[in-house]
Amino acid sequence: MQHESWKEKVIYQIFPRSFQDSDGDGNGDLQGIISRLDYIKSLGVDAIWLSPVYESPRVDQGYDIRNQREIDDLMGDMQDWEALLQEAHARGLELWMDLVLNHTSDEHRWFKQSRSSKDNPYRDYYIWRKGSEDGSPPNNWTSYLGGSAWTYDEETGEYYLHLYNKKQPDLNWDNPRVREEIEELVRYWQRKGVDGFRLDAINVVSKESGLPDTDEQKLEGSGYKHFKNGPNIHKYLRELNEKAFSQKEGTITVGEASMVSMKDVALYTHPDRRELNMIFMMESLSIGSDPDDAFKKREWKLTELKEIVTRWQNELLNVGWYGLFGSNHDHPRQVSSFGDDGKYRVESAKMLATLVHTLWGTPFIYQGEEIGMTNYPFESVDQLDDQMARHYYRTRTEMGEDPSEVEKRLLAGTRDHARTPMQWDDSPQAGFTTGKPWLPVNPNSREINVQAQQNDPHSILSYYRELIAMRREHADVIVHGEYVAILEEHEQVFAYIRRNEERQGLVLLNFSDQEAAFELPDDVHVCLDSAYRLLGNYPPEGEGVPRTLRPYEAVVFGGLKPAPEKGGGMKSTGD
Ligand code: NOJ
Repeated sequence: MQHESWKEKVIYQIFPRSFQDSDGDGNGDLQGIISRLDYIKSLGVDAIWLSPVYESPRVDQGYDIRNQREIDDLMGDMQDWEALLQEAHARGLELWMDLVLNHTSDEHRWFKQSRSSKDNPYRDYYIWRKGSEDGSPPNNWTSYLGGSAWTYDEETGEYYLHLYNKKQPDLNWDNPRVREEIEELVRYWQRKGVDGFRLDAINVVSKESGLPDTDEQKLEGSGYKHFKNGPNIHKYLRELNEKAFSQKEGTITVGEASMVSMKDVALYTHPDRRELNMIFMMESLSIGSDPDDAFKKREWKLTELKEIVTRWQNELLNVGWYGLFGSNHDHPRQVSSFGDDGKYRVESAKMLATLVHTLWGTPFIYQGEEIGMTNYPFESVDQLDDQMARHYYRTRTEMGEDPSEVEKRLLAGTRDHARTPMQWDDSPQAGFTTGKPWLPVNPNSREINVQAQQNDPHSILSYYRELIAMRREHADVIVHGEYVAILEEHEQVFAYIRRNEERQGLVLLNFSDQEAAFELPDDVHVCLDSAYRLLGNYPPEGEGVPRTLRPYEAVVFGGLKPAPEKGGGMKSTGD
């Protein structure tokens, strides 16, 4: 595999409604983003991925699109978008758009036509079926929100499929006209100057023919095996790549694909297959949740996380590429889930960032993560916007579960933790808006904000800048090198070597709030004489590589001697 330069990029994700408001209506918008471009640039990132800004009725915060070629009024207009692109490019920042191609809004003109009559030319743009003999839905799949994945439409007496909300009907990718529309859509944004795309829920777009019943008994999101990495997915993606993505040189694509095996990742991203550049690594983020019920938390061990990371790093080296992230708009804040958002907030936020930025792959930073934003102290389901959480509350309580138990669960797991406004300063609305914000500003914005960290060399923000700079400087090892797990059984310390034929580095991360002692293996030990500290989240204590890590300590060393038993040079994994 080649050391292409796109692999060295670091991406910043913006959830536009919560980033920066410019007109006082309490909603973030495009002019707001423009006013913060210098800040984004100062992080050292290369590209911005914008979560959807298209026209949308917003049952799913813009992931329900009414018109994929127009900007939502809430965000501004096309002139604002063009200004954003121009201003981003002027600063050397790329702009990546979100493509939601599994479904549209039911208010999309295609769907309005489609539902109007069985012989409308748009009918087959979506997936319509007659009900079963007894009038029940055509199969037993449940949507990700709970309840049947089918909704009956009086007008034509048939059901349409929706894996998400009933206001998000699924497109029928088996219809060549739909695929052409999608190609035209991609080319439309490419012509406008877009540099990359994030593809929403891309591995569920191709459904098994016949849409058979599932034997899974799941309240939410069943039927998976009949559409996950479905029968024609690779054919369709190759076609989309050939006819659209590859038509503009340098276009980068990242797919959101859940529950994938290593083989699947390689199929999606091996360069010879010409499908996508990368897919996101989602597996590690779900480590603390019950696989059948995302709102139910479960205990997890560090060795489980290490196993996941090690598998991806080792099995995909030279056969695929993937996006690394610790947070996005769909998960509670990473420092609250995987670190300590109280006493060790600063240390643990930096430690978690060190993991993401010292692996091979493409790191994505989610807005606010770089200042250690935490979960919001929600107290009631009524404060939430998140459709998944609200739906979950309704269905579970209707089934007789204790409402306060259900509420506790979803207040901990709601996506809205990630969606409260960006914390810019210590003013009442944190510099996000002069009006009433659409979701409340976290009261801890008085202490946790960009202004307070901007010029503090010890802040989380400064640490992110250093991490990104370190990654760039040592890209030959960090971005393109090999990963070797060490201390695999240790339940507090996550440790690994990064290396290429000439050089090697060492990363040590304490995932606990206690001091952690460890013994490095002999073959690493003998390489430490010449090691020097590249970065750490505590002031160094003593000389050389420590034998104990302080709570949530992260430290990165470079300059390790090549291991002697490898014949004086590092083992090559070959290209
Ligand atoms: C994944 C997106 O990230 C999420 O926010 C959305 O609800 C679903 N896909 C449906 O589009």
